[in-house]
Amino acid sequence: MAQVSRRAAVTGAASGIGKATAKRLIAEGLAVIVADINEVAVANTVEELIAGGGQAKACIMDVSDSAECERLGTEFGEIDILIANAGIQTTGTVTDTDDDTWNQVLGVNLKGVANCCRAVLPGMSRRKAGAIVVVSSNNAICGAPGMAAYDASKAGVLGLMRSMAIEYGARGIRVNAICPGTTITDYHIDRFAKQGITEAQLYEMTSAGGLLNRAAAPEEIANAIWFLVSDQASYITGETLIVDGGGSLAGGH
Ligand SMILES: NC(=O)c1ccc[n+]([C@@H]2O[C@H](COP(=O)([O-])OP(=O)(O)OC[C@H]3O[C@@H](n4cnc5c(N)ncnc54)[C@H](O)[C@@H]3O)[C@@H](O)[C@H]2O)c1
Repeated sequence: MAQVSRRAAVTGAASGIGKATAKRLIAEGLAVIVADINEVAVANTVEELIAGGGQAKACIMDVSDSAECERLGTEFGEIDILIANAGIQTTGTVTDTDDDTWNQVLGVNLKGVANCCRAVLPGMSRRKAGAIVVVSSNNAICGAPGMAAYDASKAGVLGLMRSMAIEYGARGIRVNAICPGTTITDYHIDRFAKQGITEAQLYEMTSAGGLLNRAAAPEEIANAIWFLVSDQASYITGETLIVDGGGSLAGGH
């Protein structure tokens, strides 16, 4: 009989850090639910993962819609691992961020994380096992100019993570957070390529912030996420792992 793989759901898995994480989880033998709002990118990602020999399924959904998120708990069988990674970035100071922007960024970045956790926690609780990583940002620790709503949403994610770790630890569920620093994703690479800027130049342009003199690759964030959900981190819960090349120590970004 074919062995049933453990299953992970990754939100925002059709791009960037989420996609790199989906690939890492598949490399570790998990089946992955590719949950993302971008229908075309989900289809392409699932195709790529399956072509690489992995088990992957599409879940096209908006994390800010709690009813759509419930599907994570009902449609795909047992979810052993959740990576709540989907996020959007907005700019604006507190005085020039309008209501719609607040609602949108909190809806996706904060309530979206809660919606997805709420969908999978009952199943994890029944099985008395599970691991969740929520993706915050080093902006949650340092702040950044002109990013009031984003920074607040990402700080909120850390509070939510601690609350869930406290609530669910006795049920065998670990909940931790990752705070990435600047990470060069395909989105950045494609955007700058249109201006004639190569990937190598892009890494040089973003080298000033941290102690390692370079931005991160998505795979470096995925490695840290995998560590936190793996058995190597079996005694770690309620923790925030900052993966920013020392950027927060150097004063942020
Ligand atoms: N890239 C960075 O420099 C950086 C730094 C710190 C934190 N982060 C955080 O890491 C996470 C991933 O960032 P990334 O750079 O890989 O972003 P990205 O834009 O490459 O990917 C984000 C993915 O989330 C999906 N998404 C957006 N809104 C959604 C919604 N409402 N429902 C479902 N899916 C949705 C998008 O379609 C996309 O596929 C985000 O939470 C981001 O805030 C990124």
